[in-house]
Amino acid sequence: MQKIFESKQDLAQHFGEILLKASQEKPELYIALSGGSTPKAIFEVLARDYNKSIDWTRIRFFWGDERCVAPNDPESNFGMTREYLFDYVKTRGVNIFRVKGELKPEEALADYIKQIDENVPKVNGLPQFDVMLLGMGDDGHTASIFPHQIQLWNSPSICELAQHPESGQNRVTLTGNVINNSQQIFFLVTGSNKAEKVDEILNQKGDYKQYPAALVDSDKTNWLMDADAAKNIIH
Ligand code: 6PG
Repeated sequence: MQKIFESKQDLAQHFGEILLKASQEKPELYIALSGGSTPKAIFEVLARDYNKSIDWTRIRFFWGDERCVAPNDPESNFGMTREYLFDYVKTRGVNIFRVKGELKPEEALADYIKQIDENVPKVNGLPQFDVMLLGMGDDGHTASIFPHQIQLWNSPSICELAQHPESGQNRVTLTGNVINNSQQIFFLVTGSNKAEKVDEILNQKGDYKQYPAALVDSDKTNWLMDADAAKNIIH
């Protein structure tokens, strides 16, 4: 399913309604968040407009990927979520399962795998998140699986260590089997710099399967885009 919004705010409001409905349907909701700039706008709207309507204490928060940095590092996806969302809504501390980026990468990876294995219900023998939030980079990466390491997508492990192609920054990332095992997947994609990859992937052009974002189960995926990101597919 694809929905195009005039602005990030409209997209965020729509996602807020989705999250409100999902949170009312289950006593505990398991969500994996993404990092980057798009979620910041989403979290701001959720914090402002869904502060009281969503019972945030019933949501169990994980991340689809995290940079191997301390939680107070400006690069931290957990730190960004705390700054834009957790500081404004009432969550339960025990329901926040962050990647411990302050540890050595291999230790952070092992610890996060353990946290997921012990806390996320399994379906088909794999952890199943109710809501998987994904972004897409302008290179077609998603979570922290980049084109130059696309083999990580099919890893038998639920998480892997990845490296950013330019900076070499270590990342802990969920892998394809877990991502595609989710109940619902939402690609939140904004910005004109994504338009080319959106067109290639959604219209299955050329060697589109070289992009990790193209490997996400399209039957379960809801693409929520702003007009800039969708400008090459709007007819
Ligand atoms: C990260 C994200 C990453 C992000 C994309 C899109 O840790 O950086 O998880 O996969 O979703 O890079 O980022 P923007 O929303 O900023 O374009």
